[in-house]
Amino acid sequence: MSGFPEVRPRRLRSSSAIRRLVSETTLEPRQLILPMFVREGAREPIAISSMPGVYQHTRDTARKAVAEAAQAGLGGVMLFGVPLEKDERGSGAIDPNGILNVAIQDAVHEAGDDLLVMGDLCLDEFTSHGHCGVLDEAGRVDNDATLELYAEMGIAQASAGAHVVGPSGMMDGQVGAIRTALDGAGFQDTVILAYAVKYASAFFGPFREAVDSSLQGDRKTYQQDPGNARDALREVDLDVAEGADIVMVKPALAYLDIIRQVRDHVNVPVAAYNISGEYAMVEAAAANGWIDREKAILETLTSIRRAGADTILTYWATEVGNLLRHR
Ligand code: PBG
Repeated sequence: MSGFPEVRPRRLRSSSAIRRLVSETTLEPRQLILPMFVREGAREPIAISSMPGVYQHTRDTARKAVAEAAQAGLGGVMLFGVPLEKDERGSGAIDPNGILNVAIQDAVHEAGDDLLVMGDLCLDEFTSHGHCGVLDEAGRVDNDATLELYAEMGIAQASAGAHVVGPSGMMDGQVGAIRTALDGAGFQDTVILAYAVKYASAFFGPFREAVDSSLQGDRKTYQQDPGNARDALREVDLDVAEGADIVMVKPALAYLDIIRQVRDHVNVPVAAYNISGEYAMVEAAAANGWIDREKAILETLTSIRRAGADTILTYWATEVGNLLRHR
């Protein structure tokens, strides 16, 4: 038995120096994108109870958060608007003075070229019924009528200075419609980060509070069935063919296998969104003392990178960016 076992994997785990040398997965500030909520008319930031540590920003505190994100070396910020008034067609999304478009302007002004400013391109925060598109007479989400509004919304965001637009409404043809509109208006260089794969997920729960959503019912006629994987690759193929520069999978944790399949399937960068419910679960367990918060956060983000995501949208982005820089 002398010399047995001959192969000892533990050798490569025996000191922090050797573990660092053979570590397979990197996590760097530039790979992280911070999603941010900006509320029209707010004088003070408003805490989101289901997402401890996350706020609906005022325009001023949003500017500050953008500066901090740049300071932390992040890849970008993804902005969401919370308008004071909503209507059937989500007009606030297209209005150049609407909260999302002015927040984009503020962020670009604050960040300059240090940080990519991205806009969530979807109507759900702006519609009185809370759906991602406009409704037809029968109350169904009208795909093609919605595309026209997305095209206008894309131009509004690009005009406000957005470097990247992120269509997230899961309408068929949305990437193509937005690309054509942007190109037609001289915005050939505006990047499309397509939420290509988006499942009808229970983990979006806290987001509804974050944007004061008025949604009744669900989004199952446009978001994907959690059991379907082939459907994800089909959506990705379509978005790439329509001109998506980056494709995203969302949510992340219950869909790590999908992130891997998408990464192996296409040659564009792949993003993953570590969404509100995933954030809330870790925060809630940590607040109870059931898990080590910082370790759980790093393990979560590492798992999403290991699955194949090049970039991650996470509400922990600035905190983790600073942590990584000071290690
Ligand atoms: C749509 C959008 C949603 C999220 C990002 N963009 C909500 C939805 O599709 O239901 C969810 C983000 C999160 O839960 O953190 N505008």
